[in-house]
Amino acid sequence: MKAVLASHNKKKMAEMRTILAEVGVEILSQADVGVDIEPEETGTTFEENARIKAEAIMKATGLPAIADDSGLVVDALGGAPGVYSARYGGEGLDDTGRWQLLLKNMEGKTDRACRFVSVICCAFPDGTEIVSRGKCEGMVADGPTGEGGFGYDPVFWLPEMGKSMAELTAEEKNGISHRGNALREFKKEWEKKQNGTDQ
Ligand code: IMP
Repeated sequence: MKAVLASHNKKKMAEMRTILAEVGVEILSQADVGVDIEPEETGTTFEENARIKAEAIMKATGLPAIADDSGLVVDALGGAPGVYSARYGGEGLDDTGRWQLLLKNMEGKTDRACRFVSVICCAFPDGTEIVSRGKCEGMVADGPTGEGGFGYDPVFWLPEMGKSMAELTAEEKNGISHRGNALREFKKEWEKKQNGTDQ
């Protein structure tokens, strides 16, 4: 099957491509199919936003479309930045500005527990869909370390590994990440759908 990946984030796309290759899904980018739309993420949950993105690209291309909506959920901040992770602090900030703001908002907080969440939605032209969710537990670090990954990775501390997410290789990150976990769930559901055992 061919499916369009509904994302403009190159690093996120690379992570998704690697894992989806194992499912036997041939991934096309929006550029490959000449569809340059970026639907507004008006939902208040990861599920709603993943569905908005997947459905818009599926309708524009007539092909199955896969979208991920993801973010960082911090307990001491009441779940923020959550679904607003990409827009935390407003449009003027880049990835570095956003994690700097996060560290500032975490000053003096002793509860550093947080998690990355990813929801994957695949919308099919026949109106059916597969939705899967994955998470990865960690702590907000006191400062940044590592050069890998993207977004909040430099300040996402993995206590069991003694490293930040940005210090992992791409393979290590895919093995434990929220997106990796959501995609592995997606893979199971996809295989059930292929075998007609999802009834
Ligand atoms: P989305 O493209 O609307 O799903 O935005 C997701 C945002 O959440 C990204 O822009 C990052 O700020 C953050 N995020 C999601 N996944 C990751 C990750 O794997 N590492 C670091 N930050 C992430």
